[in-house]
Amino acid sequence: GFKVSSEKLGLADIIFLTVGTPSSNDGGIDLSYIKNASEMIGKALKDQEGYHLIAVKSTVIPGTTENTLKPILESSSGKSIGEEIGLVMNPEFLREGSAVQDMFEPDRLVIGEYDKKSGDVLEGLYRGFYHRKMPPLLRTNLVNAEFIKYANNAFLATKISFINDIANIAQTVPGADVTIISKGIGLDNRIGGQFLNAGLGYGGSCFPKDVKALVAFSKQNGYDPILLDSANEVNFRQPLVALRLVKQLLGTLEDKRIAILGLSFKPNTDDIREAVSLPIIKAALEQGASVTAYDPEAMENMSRIFGSKIGYAQSALEAIDDADCCIVVTEWDEFRKLRPEDFASKMRNSLIIDGRRIFDAKSFEDKVSKFVAIGLGNELPK
Ligand code: UGA
Repeated sequence: GFKVSSEKLGLADIIFLTVGTPSSNDGGIDLSYIKNASEMIGKALKDQEGYHLIAVKSTVIPGTTENTLKPILESSSGKSIGEEIGLVMNPEFLREGSAVQDMFEPDRLVIGEYDKKSGDVLEGLYRGFYHRKMPPLLRTNLVNAEFIKYANNAFLATKISFINDIANIAQTVPGADVTIISKGIGLDNRIGGQFLNAGLGYGGSCFPKDVKALVAFSKQNGYDPILLDSANEVNFRQPLVALRLVKQLLGTLEDKRIAILGLSFKPNTDDIREAVSLPIIKAALEQGASVTAYDPEAMENMSRIFGSKIGYAQSALEAIDDADCCIVVTEWDEFRKLRPEDFASKMRNSLIIDGRRIFDAKSFEDKVSKFVAIGLGNELPK
């Protein structure tokens, strides 16, 4: 919980509304926090003089700012949006872990404005802040700004699911390697090289939630968005590719000791929201394996979910000790330092599944009992 004095809130010229919009049970988004916050802001502005601008930064379904937030702001403030209160939707594209850098050097700014004055005020703030480094600015209406945020995340998520689909095909073709294929297509300026790292799928508090919410919204409107549905489906299946490989190679997961390296949804965070480690561990346990996990930062969070159902190691080396197989789930830098000899000497059976392509396959060949990597062609038992 946090407290904001309504007196102080009312004194601000520009109020950024940044509360979370988590998934709701029906696949849409839960607007309760943002509705409460809007009401609080409206009340705080009730007896204030002068012009105040409200800038919505939270990710909201197209139409929400105009149809849901505006009426709340108007009824709680007793003022109409326009004259005294301005309203903009200003989506943010920050990544967890590099938010400060993304804030100082954004690719672009998007301002969705209720009216010209609202947009002018926010543009003025940004021009003063960025000065000579002002990024490209797109001014549009509220609904397009809301849409841009969803389309942006949906595109990036689809790009990842696309390369994961290619990786799964490449996996069946001896000699093929998705990292090289990514490099080759990424050099085409129309495609671009970023977000083409194949792996065990995307997680986090944004991509999975936003793709699902956009799909649900679209279906509600009567359109079946088959591409986005598939991006979501590929991502749902992708973590389990790791276990399928283990099963192909060990015959069964029953009574096997599996080491999981990396639990967070990406490196350099303890965040495990929608992390792909979750479905992997869950399915491994269901199939009778025992799991020992290690993550530099996310162990505490994970222990709240799995408790004593899995083991928690103090280091990567401890996790792989006596294991039948090891799956690299998150590409933490410290895992890159592990050598083939470490796996060969520590593990009972040195089967390694490189789920994030952090190792040089050649250096592992002949040194471990089996090295398999996502999107690296290999003839495996069917
Ligand atoms: C994402 C977007 O990148 C931000 O632009 C956006 O502002 C943010 O969501 C949001 O909506 O708030 P974030 O969730 O912090 O940011 O993380 P990313 O770095 O985008 O990674 C998301 C997931 O995609 C991770 O699980 C990562 O492992 C995976 N990923 C990313 C891949 O599997 N392959 C890639 O090539 C890139």
